[in-house]
Amino acid sequence: MVIVQICVGSSCFLRGAPMIIDKLLELVACHEISNHLTLKGSFCMEQCSKGGVSLRIGDDLLTGVKCEDLPELFEAKILPMVRR
Ligand code: FES
Repeated sequence: MVIVQICVGSSCFLRGAPMIIDKLLELVACHEISNHLTLKGSFCMEQCSKGGVSLRIGDDLLTGVKCEDLPELFEAKILPMVRR
């Protein structure tokens, strides 16, 4: 099971965390991997100064994520982890 945590602290929330969550849900449904991936909200990951939204995918912390980054991030990072 791959766990993706999305920061929903106030800075990330204002920088688009709700749109990131919507897009991730859409990608998970599109790829039919809901049985292999869990999305969770997270308190501030203390990366507010990095811009964009902070995510943790497994053990990897990503910062400055924007909605338009998600399709590539999904293909390059999340799907390979799910398929392992
Ligand atoms: S609110 Fe997301 S890193 Fe601080």
